[in-house]
Amino acid sequence: MAKKLLITETVLRDGHQSLISTRLKTSEMLPILEKMDQVGYHALEVWGGATFDVCVRYLNEDPWERLREIRKRVKNTKLQMLLRGQNLLGYRHYADDIVEKFVQKSIENGIDIVRIFDALNDLRNIRVAAESVKKYGGHCQIAICYTISPVHTIEYYCNLASEIEKMGADSIVIKDMGGILLPEVGYNLIKEIKKVTSIPLELHTHSTTGIGEMLYLRAIAAGIDIIDTAISPFSGGASQPATESIFYCLKGEEKDTELNLNHLKEIAEYFKIIRKKYVDEGGLNYQALFTEPSIIECQLPGGMLSNLVSQLKIQDSLHRYEDVLKEIPRVREEMGYPPLVTPLSQLIIAQSVFNVIFEERYKIIPNEVKNLVMGLYGKTPVPISEEMIKKIIGDKKVLLERPADFILDEFEKLKMEIGDLAKKEEDVLTYAMFPEIFKKYLENINKE
Ligand code: CO
Repeated sequence: MAKKLLITETVLRDGHQSLISTRLKTSEMLPILEKMDQVGYHALEVWGGATFDVCVRYLNEDPWERLREIRKRVKNTKLQMLLRGQNLLGYRHYADDIVEKFVQKSIENGIDIVRIFDALNDLRNIRVAAESVKKYGGHCQIAICYTISPVHTIEYYCNLASEIEKMGADSIVIKDMGGILLPEVGYNLIKEIKKVTSIPLELHTHSTTGIGEMLYLRAIAAGIDIIDTAISPFSGGASQPATESIFYCLKGEEKDTELNLNHLKEIAEYFKIIRKKYVDEGGLNYQALFTEPSIIECQLPGGMLSNLVSQLKIQDSLHRYEDVLKEIPRVREEMGYPPLVTPLSQLIIAQSVFNVIFEERYKIIPNEVKNLVMGLYGKTPVPISEEMIKKIIGDKKVLLERPADFILDEFEKLKMEIGDLAKKEEDVLTYAMFPEIFKKYLENINKE
């Protein structure tokens, strides 16, 4: 029996993150949520690293409060978040007690599905978060970060998928952050993963390179269960393929999405007005809407190309853009072929920029690159060569164990550190994510 195709709507997380630097305010989301709840979506993606960060850093909003307000209005549709494994929503590895507490509070405040990924696909960095999701009654989805390299074969991904199912995941997502998964490769990948697993399989891509829609059609033919799309005003370019376009493609076919078109139209009208505001204010970077097929070769995720351009502008080195694009795959190979996803994409780009503008490779090495070589992010897909290790960290020892094994429980310590400033446990967790800006953020929140 053919089942309908399930749709995860991303406008409240990845859609606005990819096109307007995650600037949607809670007040711009609330009026349309009840309508969104009636469309028949499988899930709404609403929370993740950047949404949490931007709330605290720029919008003077409590991200937990946003989540609760969304939950109040979305009664039928599942709410989904994206979690960076042992990094949670921050930029370092946290102790296991913080990981558990963060997952617990996310679920208590309204999250149903937790999508967990690790930039290196090192499942040791996912295990504690996954166990916590199960413990607190959430749906545990584990991601495979898709990348292209000599070691990232279909066999490699099938092994990973089997391991993920064995870990107790409720579903798997192939996370194609760069929009580089070619349709025929995707077709085979999905067919093969389906042979070795029995849990639902989801696909996440971006339209950046212009192949996202083609990929989805082939993925559907291969039997994908769920795909991620964004309502049209926040779709395309660095964002996801448009929800309505997929709806029209599949209407009346075997894999109908069975979404409510009238509701989709209303939601699109609503977000068109929001989009216009950001276009008028200059908040929508038009470059994010350009199709950039060359990413299929350099593999940078959506948004990173424009970051690279502004980074080079600041250094007065925009004329070295092409050289940096050539340097990136070289650095990536030397670093053991990590997938280019946060935070590793930033780190590989930074090293590539330094290698090019200082005219000597590895003359300047950011600490994050040293940490990667030292094993502090986990295991790279291919071991880094002895020669590179020597060059980057000298005689220092490479860590072979799970990085968080060496981090002592820290919730109580952090709670003591901020004392009365934290009114609830969620505040301690926000402080854990962003210690430097936490005080200023609290002052702003309390003012309002
Ligand atoms: Co994405």
